[in-house]
Amino acid sequence: MNSFHEWLPKKQVLIESLLEKNLPQPNNESDLNEAIRYSILNGGKRIRSILVFAIAEIVELDLMTIEKIICAVEFLHAYSLVHDDMPCMDNDDLRRGKLSCHKKFGENTALLAGDALQSLAFSCLSSPSLSIKPENQLKIIHIFSNAIGIDGMAKGQALDIKNTNKKISFNELETMHQYKTGALINASCLMAVMASNNSDKNTLDRIDAYSRSIGLMFQIKDDILDKEANQETLGKTPGKDEKDNKSTFVSLLGISESKKLATTYYKKALASIKPFGNKACYLAGIAELIMTRTH
Ligand code: IPE
Ligand code: IPE
Ligand code: MG
Ligand code: MG
Ligand code: MG
Repeated sequence: MNSFHEWLPKKQVLIESLLEKNLPQPNNESDLNEAIRYSILNGGKRIRSILVFAIAEIVELDLMTIEKIICAVEFLHAYSLVHDDMPCMDNDDLRRGKLSCHKKFGENTALLAGDALQSLAFSCLSSPSLSIKPENQLKIIHIFSNAIGIDGMAKGQALDIKNTNKKISFNELETMHQYKTGALINASCLMAVMASNNSDKNTLDRIDAYSRSIGLMFQIKDDILDKEANQETLGKTPGKDEKDNKSTFVSLLGISESKKLATTYYKKALASIKPFGNKACYLAGIAELIMTRTH
């Protein structure tokens, strides 16, 4: 097995080409396709896709299945960012170091680009070119649908709005973050396991526990970076959470306790995958990457 630092850049290059391959071509009819391409091909970290590749080191997955899962996940994630940045949500001008989609193309096109990215995600997952058992394909579509809607990401975003300008408890905050960010990370991992024809319940449970821990760790780190990072490195507007009086781990616990909590989740994540031994070295590398990320 290659070291994580050799493996990672190769997968990142592959991910970019697979995303590009599944995107619509720009045309003169409208700005929609251009706005979709802009929102995908603008340098995301692709953490959720890298997770899928790391799981493919543990369970058997063919490249076409990986391709369609990572496209679904990145398209959905990009839609969530496009809408999250809109004036009616976080009103952010910057995303991934560039103008956010509505700043570049206008609010009407950004809204539609988000909508169309969501439907493209489902088109990828339901693709007839997947060579997995039809019942597994249905299961992953079901997992994905549940993770992004009223019992997943959309619920988390709704709680984020409700919890702004409000003091909430630790449990409420954790719940909000689980929905808002954790659910899609969790679904990305579960779909990779469920799409395999050789996975078992034990593997699913361990990956489930791992991904729940890193999902929370991911948003704690996002909250810390909003406070600590500068705009150039972060690629988004720093200090936005405090300015908008958002409920975050940093606003509730402060920086130092938030960092301790992230470490607790990091250790929990590593413990969940320990039984996989060396096969999980890339998953361990990703957990470390999330802990040490600067943007
Ligand atoms: C940002 O996600 C939004 C959250 C869910 C916290 P990422 O940090 O994964 O964003 P990109 O894809 O790398 O830009
Ligand atoms: C957004 O969380 C989570 C989504 C579902 C998009 P944030 O609002 O904290 O994400 P950033 O900081 O704008 O990337
Ligand atoms: Mg937000
Ligand atoms: Mg935001
Ligand atoms: Mg944030």
